Amino acid sequence: MKKGIFITFEGGEACGKSTQVKLLKEYIESLPNKDDFIFVREPGGTKIGEEIRNLLLNYKEDAPLPMTELLLFCATRHQISENVIKPALKEGKIVIADRFYDSTVAYQGFAREIMSANEILNLTKLAIGDLKPDKTFYFKLSPHEAFKRKANCPPLDRMELEGMEFHQRVAQGYDYMANLEPERFCIVDASKSIEEIAEEIKHEFNTLVM
Ligand SMILES: Nc1ncnc2c1ncn2[C@@H]1O[C@H](COP(=O)(O)OP(=O)(O)O)[C@@H](O)[C@H]1O
Ligand SMILES: [Mg+2]
Repeated sequence: MKKGIFITFEGGEACGKSTQVKLLKEYIESLPNKDDFIFVREPGGTKIGEEIRNLLLNYKEDAPLPMTELLLFCATRHQISENVIKPALKEGKIVIADRFYDSTVAYQGFAREIMSANEILNLTKLAIGDLKPDKTFYFKLSPHEAFKRKANCPPLDRMELEGMEFHQRVAQGYDYMANLEPERFCIVDASKSIEEIAEEIKHEFNTLVM
């Protein structure tokens, strides 16, 4: 059976993940084997997933309870894993995701303190089985710097509206995962320029997939 490669982009708000995913997508468009790559967005990526994304991010008044939020993330992750990611990897494709379960450890585990990182990882295993990223680009940016960037790009969603302490705990969650699995994590200094980071990612990416 052919096996693909699964790459995720992780980090707090406004650290530049989506900017770099977009640049990588443009680069891949120029490759002769561009059809070997697929991009997915977490949460979302399937029709049901996009609806759940809307529930998760846009209900500011009647906001989901913390455990509802955690279970909805697991639900959308199950859906996208079974319907999109696992079949693509089986075909030998390279799957690139803007966020995956490390986000849940950081946000629902460390920041919202719903349950421990280990419990989140167990719950994740129930939802997605053995699926695991091969490489994770972790965009590291101080919450102070991220707040400055966010001020330039309203409107903000429910997570983005959380305070500084919340985002400091998010950063601790990512650091925890990066320490737990140093070989999977590629730490990107997200304070560098967009162009510098794009070059670094392209370099890592080429050593991974070419
Ligand atoms: N390396 C960078 N330096 C300065 N600003 C950046 C950089 N990368 C992205 N930005 C800007 O920061 C904001 C958030 O970027 P975005 O890619 O949407 O972050 P994320 O997807 O991680 O939330 C955007 O306005 C973007 O143009
Ligand atoms: Mg983004």
